[in-house]
Amino acid sequence: MSVPKKVARVFEPLKGSVTIPADKSISHRAVMLASLAKGKSVIKNFSSGTDCQSTLNVFKALGIEAKFTDAKTLKIISSGKLIPNTDNIYPCGNSGTTMRLTAGILAGQKFDSVLIGDESLSKRPMGRIIKPLSLMGGLIDSVEGHAPLTIRGKSLAGIDYISPLSSAQVKSCVLLAGINASGVTTFEEPVLSRDHTERMLKYMGADIKAEGRRVSVKKSGLIPKEIEIPGDISSAAFFIVAGLIVKGSDFVIKNVGINPTRTGIIDIVKRMGGNVEILDSRILSGEERADLRVRYTENLKSCTISGADIPKLIDELPVIAVLASQAEGETFVSDAADLRNKESDRIFCLVKELRKVGIDIDETPDGFIVRGKNILRGGVELETYHDHRLAMSFYVAGLICKEEILINGFEWTNISFPEFEKLFAELSL
Ligand code: S3P
Repeated sequence: MSVPKKVARVFEPLKGSVTIPADKSISHRAVMLASLAKGKSVIKNFSSGTDCQSTLNVFKALGIEAKFTDAKTLKIISSGKLIPNTDNIYPCGNSGTTMRLTAGILAGQKFDSVLIGDESLSKRPMGRIIKPLSLMGGLIDSVEGHAPLTIRGKSLAGIDYISPLSSAQVKSCVLLAGINASGVTTFEEPVLSRDHTERMLKYMGADIKAEGRRVSVKKSGLIPKEIEIPGDISSAAFFIVAGLIVKGSDFVIKNVGINPTRTGIIDIVKRMGGNVEILDSRILSGEERADLRVRYTENLKSCTISGADIPKLIDELPVIAVLASQAEGETFVSDAADLRNKESDRIFCLVKELRKVGIDIDETPDGFIVRGKNILRGGVELETYHDHRLAMSFYVAGLICKEEILINGFEWTNISFPEFEKLFAELSL
């Protein structure tokens, strides 16, 4: 049942510091790769979101031993082989990453399996992974390109795949199939998407070569490792935008992953004249991380976001729309049609809801236009469409609304960021 959530306006600036919880993308991959590595891996700072729990449940059902030694430290012991459960059915919940990456792993197993998802995931396109997996010799049945996916385990052979899409989920699916396929598996994409899979495969000893937009793997065994996960820049984005638009704010966001394939939000904020500083950058478990200082910026200016920008900030676009509403001029977002295939149609739903609070925003086929310097009146009720990032973006808009807003289905934030509201409260003390 959906619980309406009241959002209070903030009267005080946001001050102090917060530590953002673990990166969702990296947490998924850590469980998957640790499950394929024979021996004991330790994952430190694992995500508490329900999406990553879905991945963990799938791999536990596939015979992996997993135990939390404290709230965020996960010990995984694997024989290096996956063992099917009795009914062969693996629920992936709301998580596209769980379904698409696991499909790559299961396509080359010696057993059959079925991946199912919730209502939102069952509407999302799966043809994008079925196509390359089929070219590798995989056999996957779907319901007109949608879940449930019935995967018949087959021996796979490497392919050289030129992907029409820049998608880390498709790329990761193919690479994870590739480490269990004969020959070389190569994936090329139009613009480099997040490269966490490549980095983690390398860190865990796989035979992998990445050169720009092309990456190749060969059949590889993986070495178990300790993996320390940085904070999620996609979660930090809500705090970055809040800090820039709530008057007088000045705070530090600690331990944020700043892998260059994910830092589009920082690039855009700089283009808009926003005050974000990167402090103390360091590298651990193959991934860069840093602290970010964010300060309220009065004179934000609009910008154009397109092409190569998009994969680096695809998940941040809803909250960037909120940021653009406070900037002088028109912000244009294009080349982002795949936003329509996320947990909701993020162009249609975002535009529909943000207009209600007073944001001057129009839909385009592959993005949106925001005409800035809006006064957000609030006093309305917003819908979240089973979409965690919409829920959190609306909350940030609510911080500067003149009147409170109600967000229906706010509990969807638990998908990636159960600590979201608590951390905001820490900055408002
Ligand atoms: C993700 C990749 C992106 C992103 C999603 C997580 C990943 O999706 O939107 O939230 O972990 O690989 P696409 O690969 O569909 O662009």
